[in-house]
Amino acid sequence: MKILMVCLGNICRSPLAEGILQAKATEQNLTWEVDSAGMGNWHAGEQPDIRSIRVAEQYGIDLRTQRARQFEYADFERFDRIYAMDDRNYAAILQKAKNNRDREKVTMILEERWPGENRSVPDPYYGHAADFERVFQLLDEACAVIIEKYR
Ligand code: 4NP
Repeated sequence: MKILMVCLGNICRSPLAEGILQAKATEQNLTWEVDSAGMGNWHAGEQPDIRSIRVAEQYGIDLRTQRARQFEYADFERFDRIYAMDDRNYAAILQKAKNNRDREKVTMILEERWPGENRSVPDPYYGHAADFERVFQLLDEACAVIIEKYR
């Protein structure tokens, strides 16, 4: 499986989603390609937000080698599944899609865990450590379902 996690800045939520899913895949001896990207380019080249790095570290996951990049059309070709963190990222990704094959790859990540509820991962950028912990827990639950579904 080749899976791409997408948020707005690619420094808070999608780096966590990438790190969590990659860790679970490695635990299960799955050779999945997992990456992340942002719809914006303001943080391109940067490390994840220190608050994401710290919450991941508490669970033994290293985000420090990640660097932010902007989503690009080629990602539709490169990945089997594209997970949006929230409804705005979801709409923005779909705007870049050219055909149904592209569109069918895109899902809001929390739909995997709470189907039909249209839940978004709340943007923690202006929040505090507790918000990052909450994001971690939501993504951990969703990634557990993704592993079971596609392994
Ligand atoms: P993310 O959080 O989309 O989870 O990476 C954000 C990071 C940066 C900004 C917004 C959200 N920003 O406006 O710079």
